[in-house]
Amino acid sequence: MEEKQYYKTVYNKFWVNQTKIYGHGEYTKKIVSLISKSAPKKVFEVAIGTGWPIGAALKAKGIEIDGCDIAETSVALAQEELGNKNGIWIGTVQEYTGGILYDVTYCVRSSWCIPDFYSVVEKMISMTKPGGYIIFDIMDRNSPYCLKHRLQNIKNDYYRFLGIDVDEQYGMHFISLYSMKHFLRKNNLIYQYWLERKITQNRDRMNTPKVVFCCRKQEES
Ligand SMILES: C[S@@+](CC[C@H](N)C(=O)[O-])C[C@H]1O[C@@H](n2cnc3c(N)ncnc32)[C@H](O)[C@@H]1O
Repeated sequence: MEEKQYYKTVYNKFWVNQTKIYGHGEYTKKIVSLISKSAPKKVFEVAIGTGWPIGAALKAKGIEIDGCDIAETSVALAQEELGNKNGIWIGTVQEYTGGILYDVTYCVRSSWCIPDFYSVVEKMISMTKPGGYIIFDIMDRNSPYCLKHRLQNIKNDYYRFLGIDVDEQYGMHFISLYSMKHFLRKNNLIYQYWLERKITQNRDRMNTPKVVFCCRKQEES
């Protein structure tokens, strides 16, 4: 199955329950605090999912949330959760042609589902006000968790080569921390980043691959 089709028809059903199972813990609270720190009025979430818990926590702070997602059923839930039928739409962020410049654009818990995430960050930069913030997380491709999955992928390719049928793996778009830092500097962004295991105080190095970035778009001079 093509990856986008998987998110639209299979993963959407899984995520509606899974987001409740994960709940609103230290990790999502850190994200909400980063997004709301600059007291934004209007923000945009790429790959918004159901809008819970992150969008819902922002809405409770009086922030207006626009966003997009490729999964139709998730978009319907997000529109309902966040009371925004016009600003939350079905599609990829590359399809955005509106003229709004947002105080904050963010894409969290999703970059590993999206091929060419760098082009998503470029688009987010273009949709953010000068002096505004771009917030996202990646899975560090050199973390033990990602190395384990990359190894499994190589094994699967070998099985396929031998003619053995194995399930497709999705959500494997891991990004090197080094390359992302280089990309952000090249795009003139001032950034800070936090490791998942520091945010959550989880000492399990095998299962804490996420890194959260908060970047500031420079004021025009
Ligand atoms: C793990 S969920 C995260 C949802 C939400 N950001 C959150 O933290 O609750 C990943 C989401 O990415 C969406 N997605 C996958 N590929 C996408 C793409 N190319 N453009 C927009 N959304 C995408 C999926 O439909 C899914 O809702």
